[in-house]
Amino acid sequence: MATESTKYTLLMRILHWLIAVLILGMIGVGWYMAGLPDEHPTKYDIYPIHKSIGITLLGLVVIRLLVRFFSPIPKLPRELSGWEKVLTKTVHFLLYLLMILVPISGYMMSDFAGFPVEWFGIEIPGFVEDNMDNSQSALDAHGILPYILLGLIALHLLGSLKHRFLDKGKNTDVLKRML
Ligand code: HEM
Repeated sequence: MATESTKYTLLMRILHWLIAVLILGMIGVGWYMAGLPDEHPTKYDIYPIHKSIGITLLGLVVIRLLVRFFSPIPKLPRELSGWEKVLTKTVHFLLYLLMILVPISGYMMSDFAGFPVEWFGIEIPGFVEDNMDNSQSALDAHGILPYILLGLIALHLLGSLKHRFLDKGKNTDVLKRML
């Protein structure tokens, strides 16, 4: 529900920054571990940590969507032009979509391959039949989607910095609503 309030709620702000830090860390760790040679001594020690944090992130994103649904959301500033409002809403929608698809593609790659996925040592029961073609498709998706997410995060960051530092004399500083 959109409101005239000027800030997101404290819970929304905490979830925003926590998820942002975890996603950026996960992209860095994922890129690093996938690039290590198979015989590297710690490569496969990193995988379970990556998977556990990835599943935690999926849970946090679901919680965030529920909290968002029931929280007052500040309206976009009136001084934003029409195209800026459309672009902002489109990027927000795509960010949520990818924050869901990235961990799901990672999970499906393991589940289709018949590897049990553990969440900090607790086994999560698989729910699909083993299928290596589907596992390969999930792997292909998981090799691309995190970097599309990274591009969207960059666009999102650049947009907020533009409104804060370049839109002089306009009341369009949206970053302060998330601080
Ligand atoms: C938001 C959460 C996640 C992010 C941002 C993320 C990000 C990444 C990235 C950037 C890579 C490297 C891709 C490449 O360059 O080939 C990667 C690899 C990988 N991820 Fe994730 N990931 C997430 C969640 C998960 C989850 C939930 C699982 C499994 C339960 C998972 C399993 C894997 C595996 C197994 C690889 C290595 C694939 C390979 O060996 O080529 N990820 N991840």
